[in-house]
Amino acid sequence: MNLPSVDMLSGIQPTGRLHLGNYLGAVREWVKIQENENLFVCLVDYHALTAAPLPDSLRAQTRSLLVDLLACGLDPEESVLFCQSDLPEHIELFWILSCVARFGEMARMTQFKDKGGGTDTESVGLGVLNYPVLQAADILLYGPNKVPVGEDQAQHLELTRELLRRFNKRYTPLFQEVRAHIPQVGKVLSLNQPSRKMSKSDPTGCVFIDEEAESLLKKVKRAVTDSGQGALSPGVLNLLGILASFNAEEGKKAHKEAEGGQLRYGDLKVAVAGVLEDALSGIREEKRAWLNRPDRVEEILQEGAKAARRIAQPRLAAIRDVVGLKGYPR
Ligand code: AMP
Ligand code: TRP
Repeated sequence: MNLPSVDMLSGIQPTGRLHLGNYLGAVREWVKIQENENLFVCLVDYHALTAAPLPDSLRAQTRSLLVDLLACGLDPEESVLFCQSDLPEHIELFWILSCVARFGEMARMTQFKDKGGGTDTESVGLGVLNYPVLQAADILLYGPNKVPVGEDQAQHLELTRELLRRFNKRYTPLFQEVRAHIPQVGKVLSLNQPSRKMSKSDPTGCVFIDEEAESLLKKVKRAVTDSGQGALSPGVLNLLGILASFNAEEGKKAHKEAEGGQLRYGDLKVAVAGVLEDALSGIREEKRAWLNRPDRVEEILQEGAKAARRIAQPRLAAIRDVVGLKGYPR
C-alpha cells in the first residue's frame, strides 16, 4: 500500500523551559536535519498530561515550548511544527496499538519503573504505563524512516519497532521499518549531580537555553569536578563533552590535557561558560523577538496541524481498514 509518509519525526513534551540536554540531545540535531530532510516535530501535550499539570499552565507551556524551539532555529518554512492534541487521530491509533502491545513488555520499560511502576503499582498512573504506546502511535501515524531523539529514548524506539513488526505480522505489512537517530553527544549530565542526566527537575545542575549570562557563569563555576588525580570523573567528562560539542578541536585538546593531569578545572569551566554564552546569547535574543509575535506562533501551530493532518488522516484510514473497524460496505 502506498501511504504518505515523512522523512523524520520527533516529539517533545511541553513541560517547561528547554535546557542544554534537550538542545544537544535533540533540538540542535533537528535544526541541522531540517535543511535536508522533511522533518515533523510534534509538541506532545497528551503525553504531558501524565504529570497532571495545571490546565492553564499546560496550554501556556505548549506555546512557550514552540517559542523556545523557534529561538533555537527550528524554522516553520523548513519543518512542520505541530501540537499533538490538534490531531485526536493520535489517540485512535494509540488504542489500536494498545491492543497490539502486551502488559508485560510495558511494565518492563525503564521509565515506567523509574516513575513508580517498579514498586508502587497502586498509585502509578496508567498513562505512565501507556506512555510509550502513545509515542509509537505518534511515530507510526507519520511513517518516518528515522526518529531523531536523545539517548534516553532508545528503549521507546525499540518498543515502537516491536509493535510495528507485530502489527505487520498480525495484519498486513503496512508499516515500514523505523530507526532511532541518536546524536553523538549522548547524555548531558547534571552539573551538580553528574550521576544523573541534566533535567529541569534539578535547576541548579541545569543550564536553560535562555539562561542569562550571569547565572550561566555561576552554574558552570559550581559544577562538580574531581581532585585531578586518577581517572577523569563523570562531572569532568561531562564538561569536556559540552565543550567538544560546541568546539570539537578545543574539546579534544582539553581532554588530552585533562588525561595528562595538566588541565586546571577552573580554566575548563571558563572555556565551557564561554562557548555556552556564545551559543545562548543568540538564542536569548531570538526568544525575545518571538515572544513579541504571539499571533504568528498561533498561526504556525495551525499551519502545522494542517500539514500533519494531510499525512495522518489517510494513514489512519488505511490502518482502520486493515484492522477491520466498521468502515462502509465495499
Ligand atoms: P523531554 O524534555 O524529556 O521531552 O526530552 C526531549 C528530548 O531531549 C528527547 O529527545 C530527549 O532524549 C532529549 N533529552 C532530554 N534530556 C537530555 C539529556 N540530559 N541529555 C541528552 N538528551 C536529553
Ligand atoms: N517520549 C519523548 C521524550 O520524552 C517524547 C515523544 C513523544 C517522542 N512522542 C514522540 C519522541 C515521538 C519521538 C517521537 O522525549
